[in-house]
Amino acid sequence: MAVPTPLPDLQPYWMPFTANRYFKQHPLLLESAAGMYYSTRDGRKILDGIAGLWCVNAGHCHPRIVAAVREQVGRLDYATAFNLGHAGAFELADQVVKLAPGNLGHAFFVNSGSEAVDTALKIALAYHRVRGEGQRFRFIGRERGYHGVGFGGISVGGMVANRKVFASAMLPGVDHLPHTHDLARNAFSRGQPAHGAELADALERLVALHDPSTIAGVIIEPVSGSAGVLPPPKGYLERIRAICDRHNLLLIFDEVITGFGRTGSAFASRTFNVQPDLMTVAKGITSGVVPMGAVLVDRRIYEACVGAGAGPTAQPEQAIEFFHGYTYSGHPLACAAGLATLAVYREEGLFERAAALAPAFADALHSLKGAPHVIDIRNIGLMGAVELESRKDQPTLRALDVFRHCFASGVLVRTTGDTIALTPPLIIEEAQIGQIVDSLRKALKATA
Ligand SMILES: Cc1ncc(COP(=O)(O)O)c(C=O)c1O
Repeated sequence: MAVPTPLPDLQPYWMPFTANRYFKQHPLLLESAAGMYYSTRDGRKILDGIAGLWCVNAGHCHPRIVAAVREQVGRLDYATAFNLGHAGAFELADQVVKLAPGNLGHAFFVNSGSEAVDTALKIALAYHRVRGEGQRFRFIGRERGYHGVGFGGISVGGMVANRKVFASAMLPGVDHLPHTHDLARNAFSRGQPAHGAELADALERLVALHDPSTIAGVIIEPVSGSAGVLPPPKGYLERIRAICDRHNLLLIFDEVITGFGRTGSAFASRTFNVQPDLMTVAKGITSGVVPMGAVLVDRRIYEACVGAGAGPTAQPEQAIEFFHGYTYSGHPLACAAGLATLAVYREEGLFERAAALAPAFADALHSLKGAPHVIDIRNIGLMGAVELESRKDQPTLRALDVFRHCFASGVLVRTTGDTIALTPPLIIEEAQIGQIVDSLRKALKATA
């Protein structure tokens, strides 16, 4: 083993979504990465079973992406996107919308998934207002949904721990669909579960309760990710789409995790053949190399917000149409990373690779049925989850133990509640899928 590099003072850094006290007593620090592997401070190689945090779809430190970012930072480090531009942002927008399904013809760049969600909610409000329906202010989210940590995102999100402290500061008028997790009927389903399409009908009830004229839109993840990988029941998304159409509600798909190959095609909306009006993306857009997100917008929404008649009556073509944006929207480094990442996806056929590997991934994962305390296994594309029975009065601790065992054996998995999530880079080899599942099997036995 290599001699570990000296540990910095761990106290000043307040770590996000982390048990700070525990971590600082048991630090785990990564030092470098390449392809499917991280290296730790003490020189151990860790097989990355979760693509960093569901984002490094092209594999770590991909030479082409690294070279593009290096070249960009030496040429144009920064450019404001407010009344100025650089070619990379326009090229990336063009390439991303060409990958997107249907009429999603415009991209608004942001720096994260959370910003993408809050931006999408604002675009929905702006759209209804410019059409003279400004009274549509409500959003419908879903229980167990995760839409980042902005005030908009936690309001429409359905992860209780992320919301309860901030309850007084939520967006007004938000309501939630029921989640689709149904162990009694769907445990150990492969791909989309058979039962639960009727849960979409709760949207009709919410529409009746609030009156459609007050509702701006519905936001859901096509596959719930952070809640523990919940593929949509067969027919569910289609029903949600039909109800939105009936009542003129905008349908927002949050594809921050499912975008860029995760489900075996460019977007989950392509995989499931259901068209959203707005789509939020982040993570895989740059393979995690530089922070970036985007909202992909239907042409009619863009036209309504930006086209003739959208601005004030005096000199409308010189007026800002949408008072929103970030200092780092369309940052040159993010655009360079994004363009190189899309080239890698294309030239290495990584979306097709994800689709081709999905059956082997499903077989490997489902071979864990019968392992100690496994109560469900779910998968779609290269997204998978193994749900464990919680220890009495100690929710999350069983999964955390499994995580630590796997890490000690050289495999990185993710826990969410008592569920182990797996979302490897799309470059993974079958043998590496086997290694991840073996490591999990041993960890499940050791922690039983
Ligand atoms: C579906 C979804 N939306 C939004 C976000 C928030 O993204 P970020 O952490 O980049 O703000 C995430 C993050 O995991 C996510 O999974």
